[in-house]
Amino acid sequence: MDRTAWDARYAAAEHVWGLEPNRFVVEVAGDLPAGRALDLACGEGRNALWLARRGWQVTAVDFSAVALAKAAEQAAALGLAPDALQLVEADLLEWRPPTGVFDLVLVAYLHLPEPQLRLVLGRAGDALAPGGLCCIVGHDRTNLTHGVGGPHDPAVLPTPEVLATLLADDGLEVRRAELRTRQVDTPDGLRRAIDHLVVAFRPVP
Ligand SMILES: C[S@@+](CC[C@H](N)C(=O)[O-])C[C@H]1O[C@@H](n2cnc3c(N)ncnc32)[C@H](O)[C@@H]1O
Repeated sequence: MDRTAWDARYAAAEHVWGLEPNRFVVEVAGDLPAGRALDLACGEGRNALWLARRGWQVTAVDFSAVALAKAAEQAAALGLAPDALQLVEADLLEWRPPTGVFDLVLVAYLHLPEPQLRLVLGRAGDALAPGGLCCIVGHDRTNLTHGVGGPHDPAVLPTPEVLATLLADDGLEVRRAELRTRQVDTPDGLRRAIDHLVVAFRPVP
């Protein structure tokens, strides 16, 4: 989907992904001490806002102006300090984060063809400070045949192994690369969705 299609999707519903943070993001980041975080493809900001409320200084990037406007509205409603959440409207295929400064880089449900994903993850890895964590969550390729929801194009659905290889190629040490399931309420009742969760860190030299 391009920027215009995402804008239209965000304009058509109030909170497309809900207000609560993603459960796997909470699992990975819930016990980390607050620092600087980068949320790539932040959408309406559910994860970035959660981190900012917990004392993180967050930079959140997305190319949908409509989604970012909702994130800004929510930040104001929560009374977040102006420097707690910096929203950046940019295409991740063009935008370069600062190098070596973030304690956490989050990429949640950003589905791109592998060459583009490699580019974005390479920059995500470069953005990490030594010891910093990269957390990737998304619809897994197995979800196509065994799960519900998410994109239907296998070209934008990686596996934990593919993601682990891309991150290792960037010099990160992979700590977890696994499949996780969650229940989704659909018009046909509760169904299972299969996500991947990959966590890697930049080694301290
Ligand atoms: C499925 S949503 C996930 C939003 C958020 N990470 C979450 O979990 O709530 C995917 C997001 O990726 C953004 N996106 C897709 N391609 C992008 C690109 N090339 N540059 C910036 N944002 C992009 C879309 O605008 C959308 O907000």
